[in-house]
Amino acid sequence: MPEDGALPASALLGAGERPLGFYLHVPYCATRCGYCDFNTYTATELRGSGGVLASRDNYADTLIDEVRLARKVLGDDPRPVRTVFVGGGTPTLLAADDLVRMLAAVRDEFGLADDAEITTEANPESVDPAYLSALREGGFNRVSFGMQSARQHVLKVLDRTHTPGRPEACVAEARAAGFEHVNLDLIYGTPGETDDDWRASLDAAIGAGPDHVSAYALIVEEGTQLARRIRRGEVPMTDDDVHADRYLIADEVLGGAGFDWYEVSNWATSEAGRCLHNELYWRGADWWGPGRGPTAMWGVCGGGT
Ligand SMILES: C[S@@+](CC[C@H](N)C(=O)[O-])C[C@H]1O[C@@H](n2cnc3c(N)ncnc32)[C@H](O)[C@@H]1O
Ligand code: SF4
Repeated sequence: MPEDGALPASALLGAGERPLGFYLHVPYCATRCGYCDFNTYTATELRGSGGVLASRDNYADTLIDEVRLARKVLGDDPRPVRTVFVGGGTPTLLAADDLVRMLAAVRDEFGLADDAEITTEANPESVDPAYLSALREGGFNRVSFGMQSARQHVLKVLDRTHTPGRPEACVAEARAAGFEHVNLDLIYGTPGETDDDWRASLDAAIGAGPDHVSAYALIVEEGTQLARRIRRGEVPMTDDDVHADRYLIADEVLGGAGFDWYEVSNWATSEAGRCLHNELYWRGADWWGPGRGPTAMWGVCGGGT
């Protein structure tokens, strides 16, 4: 992108007819999960960068500057923003006030549609009731928690730091804070996971009462710790047929509990529960992604493919 943010004329052609969304990227995590190759940094990696990477302290302000730049580039574009998705990384490593200020910048510069969908991703161990209430009061109406599995041995292979049961408690805390829409992300096909483990994870997710579930087949990404462990023979690679069977199990169990499959990896209890931000991508709408490295389609978890 050029320094002044200028867009090619082709990107602006017919823009007024398409909805506009924002993906705000927060590239920080407390620790790196062994399977994850997203554009995110731990405190150790930040220290090792010698200051090249933006610090967490002033990240929100830097991102807000970019929202203002987007306003300049789009000029008098009259479209109110239909969806805002704060993704990561772990957005909830920033103070709730930082996320609220980032959202306020989008509202101040562009305006929000009356029925705008405003989501943040959250790691289960990084939030508490007060934090969730602050987000709700600040205008967020959807939250997506990374649950991944209900089984401790599966969470361990994935290097997750939360305990089983914490994501379900998060759903209750989000509901109590007034969130209308809550998603749980699950991963299937982790080395060592059985069909029964997967069914238990689906049952636990459903039992928590979200209105949306994302279920992703584990991708063993080159360069990750998990890929190295598999290459060394420490954990087995999951067979493609097992992945296919688990996908069918997901649809059977979620479908049986009233969740409709509406997109490759996504199920929702109603049309209102679907992730509109993700649907904007599929429909070729416009989006702006301020932040260090928004990962477009794949960045939209809790609604992504
Ligand atoms: C952008 S991540 C952020 C979510 C949040 N940091 C967390 O981990 O709870 C969104 C989701 O992508 C999924 N994901 C990440 N890496 C994956 C991989 N290699 N294979 C399958 N799913 C993956 C996980 O379900 C994760 O919750
Ligand atoms: S899965 Fe989530 S918490 Fe884990 S490293 Fe990736 S973005 Fe961070």
